[in-house]
Amino acid sequence: MKFESQKIAYHFFALSMLLLVLQIIYGFIMGFAHMGYDVFHEWIPFNTAVTTHKNLLVVWILSGFMGAAYYIIPDESDHPLFSTGLAKLQFWSFAIVGVIAVAGFHVGWWEGRKFLEIPRPLDWLVAANVILFLVIILMTLIKGKQQTTTSWVLTMGLVFAALLYLPGMVYFDNISVDSFFRWWVVHLWVEGVWELIMGGILAYLLIKLTGVDREVIEKWLYVVVGLTFLSGILGTGHHYYYTGGPSYWLMIGGIFSALEPLAFLGMTVFAITMYRKGNKRHPNKLALFWTLSTAIVSFLGAGLLGLAHTLPPVNLYTHGTLVTAMHGHLAFWGAYASLVLAIMSYAMPLMTGRKIFDNRMGNLAFWCSNIGMFAMTTAFAAAGVAQVYLERIAGFEFMVAAEETKPHFFVLILAATLFTVGIGMFISNFLKFGLPNDEALGTENEFKPLQAS
Ligand code: HEM
Ligand code: HEM
Ligand SMILES: [Fe+2]
Repeated sequence: MKFESQKIAYHFFALSMLLLVLQIIYGFIMGFAHMGYDVFHEWIPFNTAVTTHKNLLVVWILSGFMGAAYYIIPDESDHPLFSTGLAKLQFWSFAIVGVIAVAGFHVGWWEGRKFLEIPRPLDWLVAANVILFLVIILMTLIKGKQQTTTSWVLTMGLVFAALLYLPGMVYFDNISVDSFFRWWVVHLWVEGVWELIMGGILAYLLIKLTGVDREVIEKWLYVVVGLTFLSGILGTGHHYYYTGGPSYWLMIGGIFSALEPLAFLGMTVFAITMYRKGNKRHPNKLALFWTLSTAIVSFLGAGLLGLAHTLPPVNLYTHGTLVTAMHGHLAFWGAYASLVLAIMSYAMPLMTGRKIFDNRMGNLAFWCSNIGMFAMTTAFAAAGVAQVYLERIAGFEFMVAAEETKPHFFVLILAATLFTVGIGMFISNFLKFGLPNDEALGTENEFKPLQAS
């Protein structure tokens, strides 16, 4: 860690972990409800649970991104954070708005728009909070001694993500129009600007962990950014197929969204090539594992499982079913959850001075959570295919199909238990690091050569 002010990242990482635990609890509530044990129904009906589960996901990932930016930007710019006091204010206001929003969902204070349920007054507070965050980041970047491509890609991803929140705040009476703009936020986030954030953080981690020249890594970054925008912007059309919009979206959405996996494939090839090119090995093996798994699993979850239902004739049947949940889980896990865990695994030893680089707990956390999430995805896939067949081909009622898919949720719960054990071990390692301290100041990466010379 170069500067004391980078320590603020710890607050955001800790909040991330806390919210992830809550998200998992709501996941289990829904998993049991699908199995027929909707025991909390009176207090937490399914729609409340799903809303809370998804919004907690968005908030913990955003908290992770913010922590990552507070750690990376000062390091890349070679300048302390613009203001630690303001960053602390931003943290606490972010956390408080998040808590109020989640509590509000339980008393029906929401907008009812999937993923963007936070009610309007809180939306304004979120907007103010994010502006403060961006001011701190941009001022640090501008005042910095150097401005790297990596830090600009990361920062522009964050700026665009904030701008794209705005279309989701406009209210329309017509649900088709409302849904049209909701996708500007949801789709253009995960299949557009968040990919810049992902590219930026991955590039930073690869520079640090492989020892490959910055110039080489940043050239790849341009390719990934190019592929993302080329496919992702018009790829939004895969949400406009049968929603009341013009029919040309069938063609445009079909073609461009089918190209989207290329951007994720680019990310995978990028990470693996840099790893193989690297002539040095950073001792932090856990951070390297998470970095590579982000690049690989995002391609599987977002790229391949996205492709599986992105063509109009398929989406006609799968839209809004558990097939979507199958893809949603592995895509979010591979691309954004693993990314946050990767930057945390890299930054925590440098912030605290404790070299937990390759311990048993960390390795088990990696494998249990990944295998658990793959198994969960498989259970959702089995349930999803059965649901599509029963509901949309055989024509059974929703609840009849739900009854038939119960056994798959038993499997889901088993898989989710393994996943949760993995996350539990990750958090246990996180706690072992302790708090950031000044002893860690000035500790730079220590490489060890691949072969003894
Ligand atoms: C123990 C862990 C978890 C369990 C048991 C679980 C279970 C569930 C269930 C049952 C649903 C509702 C599906 C439906 O619509 O009926 C759901 C939705 C969702 N979960 Fe999870 N979940 C867990 C963890 C996670 C994690 C870690 C992520 C992200 C990395 C995640 C992302 C999502 C998303 C994006 C949706 C919405 C899917 C859609 O739009 O159809 N979940 N989850
Ligand atoms: C990391 C990137 C991605 C993430 C996190 C992600 C996540 C999600 C989530 C959560 C949903 C449900 C949204 C909702 O109903 O509100 C969804 C829907 C969808 N995604 Fe992705 N996705 C990603 C990339 C992709 C890619 C690259 C493709 C195509 C190749 C794709 C194809 C689709 C399609 C077709 C739907 C609509 C499903 C439906 O009609 O119900 N996704 N995605
Ligand atoms: Fe999309």
